[in-house]
Amino acid sequence: MACELCVFLWCLCVSEIQCHDWGVWSKGSVRVYDGEVAYLYCPLFSHPTLYSYSQTQNSSLSLLWYRHPHTHELEQPINLKLHTLHKDREYLWIQPASAQDAGLYICMLRNISSCVKIGVELEVIQKDGECDRRAQPHLNLTIPFQSDQTLTCPNLNTLTLPNSTHSVSWYHLCRTELFRGDRELKGDDLVIYRMMEPYTGLYTCVVSYQMNGRTLQFTRNINVIAVVPDVGSKVPIVLNPASDQIYTVTLGDTATLSCRVLLPHLYEEKQYIWWTVDNKTLEQLADPRFSSPEAKLVSNDYGDERKERVLYVMDFSADDLQREFNCSARNSRGINTSRAVLKTEPYVPTLELGCGLGVTLALMLMMFVIYHVFWLELLLLYRSWFGSDERYTDDKQYDVYISYARNSEEEEFVLSTLRRVLETEFGYSVCIFDRDSLPGGTITDDTLRFVGQSRRLVVVVSPCSAVRGTQALLELQAGLTSMLHGGSLRVVLIQFKPVQRKSWVKELRRARLALTLVRWQGEKSAPLSSRFWKQLQLELPMRRNTQHTQHTQHTQTLLPDITQHTPDTHTQNTHHAEEKLIDPYSTSAL
Ligand SMILES: *[C@@H]1O[C@H](CO)[C@@H](O)[C@H](O)[C@H]1NC(C)=O
Ligand SMILES: *[C@@H]1O[C@H](CO)[C@@H](O)[C@H](O)[C@H]1NC(C)=O
Ligand SMILES: *[C@@H]1O[C@H](CO)[C@@H](O)[C@H](O)[C@H]1NC(C)=O
Ligand SMILES: *[C@@H]1O[C@H](CO)[C@@H](O)[C@H](O)[C@H]1NC(C)=O
Ligand SMILES: *[C@@H]1O[C@H](CO)[C@@H](O)[C@H](O)[C@H]1NC(C)=O
Ligand SMILES: *[C@@H]1O[C@H](CO)[C@@H](O)[C@H](O)[C@H]1NC(C)=O
Ligand SMILES: *[C@@H]1O[C@H](CO)[C@@H](O)[C@H](O)[C@H]1NC(C)=O
Repeated sequence: MACELCVFLWCLCVSEIQCHDWGVWSKGSVRVYDGEVAYLYCPLFSHPTLYSYSQTQNSSLSLLWYRHPHTHELEQPINLKLHTLHKDREYLWIQPASAQDAGLYICMLRNISSCVKIGVELEVIQKDGECDRRAQPHLNLTIPFQSDQTLTCPNLNTLTLPNSTHSVSWYHLCRTELFRGDRELKGDDLVIYRMMEPYTGLYTCVVSYQMNGRTLQFTRNINVIAVVPDVGSKVPIVLNPASDQIYTVTLGDTATLSCRVLLPHLYEEKQYIWWTVDNKTLEQLADPRFSSPEAKLVSNDYGDERKERVLYVMDFSADDLQREFNCSARNSRGINTSRAVLKTEPYVPTLELGCGLGVTLALMLMMFVIYHVFWLELLLLYRSWFGSDERYTDDKQYDVYISYARNSEEEEFVLSTLRRVLETEFGYSVCIFDRDSLPGGTITDDTLRFVGQSRRLVVVVSPCSAVRGTQALLELQAGLTSMLHGGSLRVVLIQFKPVQRKSWVKELRRARLALTLVRWQGEKSAPLSSRFWKQLQLELPMRRNTQHTQHTQHTQTLLPDITQHTPDTHTQNTHHAEEKLIDPYSTSAL
């Protein structure tokens, strides 16, 4: 008993080991609608040279069907006693199939000495209504325009059941049509007599038949595609490179040459597109610099395809320019070739250029900002480098002549701030004519003389009421006259307090546009680094060394000269006064 079991197990083992497994034949997978008839074809017989059904009889091979449900680990023999399953030669019928029938089916051919098996997948899907517009076709059928074609429901001829009475219904795009004129129902088939564009699309046929008193059915979908008729030469045409086309390449860069070809529609035929370099294919050339990916479909016009194949040449060199780049296309009807004419373009490093441009722009922006924030400083700096010291080119005595309205609000500013800074901080020689220091007598000549001896006339603007008929007006007139008549004097205006333009003296109003106005902004202008002083300095003559060491030498007040006119006190120290800072205001108190 134990030995019998042992022998049985050994046999089982041997048969398992010997059976040659061909795996799963994915091309043969079957998709059926739930509730419809499915039949599976044993894929072993799709190679008639290896196995044919009639031969199995002579080799005493038997065909067995197993099932490998997704829910189970092991294969199970098909129970053919079930009335839904029926084995017919190399077919296994499932009439009808339901969702539980889905899975892997294995057909096995076996005799004592050999065994072979292969699997095929059954997919059961739900039918989306009576007719499924988006159904995957079981068959693609191309029909040339104007030609005729008979549509037969696929697998109808495999229905070899005895005495089966069946019917076939046809749909086009899920519509039951009458099929009159160019299309007609003939028996089980649908005939298209003259193919036209509206006849393209999905055709559905539903076959129903009676068996064992039950009505069974299956549905097949055919996708009908119209193609251009097979007339004309059908030789491929290389569209690009066109005869007058010039490809621009850049030395040192990767050249991209595009070849576009029109491949006329031909049934079941592989057509070729390739690039050659000096009549060598890229395989023959075997240079890694050259590459050409598979052709891409650009358009499909009723079967006439336009395809593009690109040739990349890395590090395009001057030598490459001498080579012959040809694109060719071939099918059974002929061959067409076209040469790509190349032209070089100097290497423009776009990235570097972009960076350079970016840097330049950034610099320009920076300069712009710097200029707007520091323009006064820049101008001063520029002047200190390139400006010339007027002292060496004229023989004037004073740098600045300050004109202001006496006894006005501006007076204290002029005498305590403006004058001090100009003399001690900037080292200018300043002249202030103090009328009060003159005991009567005419001053016109002196005023004109001293204004003429100055390089700048700084006018502190006051309302006209304070100026009219005073020394200040005289100074202003003298300065403007000198300036307008081409003298070397320049007039600069300082506004200590806002004074309405219309209350300016008319001489000043006339000349305003030609003159620079520097505004005192109160406390803000007090520090030497303020805009006020920088702006003022810019208007005054240049001093290369605005150091205190020089100021005594250039500082003068008008007092000593004026005092010559006064037989008063202080005559003895008139010339020594040049060495000292004498406040004319305090002198005026004399
Ligand atoms: C099978 O054997 C029969 C005779 O028994 C013979 O007529 C037939 O040609 C054989 N078929 C094949 C495929 O060998
Ligand atoms: C078994 O089948 C093979 C073909 O697959 C055949 O060559 C062999 O002769 C058969 N063996 C027997 C005993 O019929
Ligand atoms: C039909 O053609 C479509 C598109 O070209 C393709 O995806 C599909 O696999 C084809 N079907 C069959 C059964 O050949
Ligand atoms: C098949 O049809 C024939 C006549 O066409 C009839 O004589 C026969 O009885 C039928 N067989 C069955 C199984 O229905
Ligand atoms: C290109 O080479 C082939 C052989 O590879 C040769 O038959 C053909 O004549 C050559 N064509 C030209 C234009 O040299
Ligand atoms: C390629 O086709 C074009 C257009 O039909 C034709 O002008 C040209 O002569 C053909 N070239 C070759 C080499 O056959
Ligand atoms: C390249 O194409 C031109 C036509 O553009 C043709 O005359 C020439 O013979 C072709 N060269 C090769 C090597 O095929």
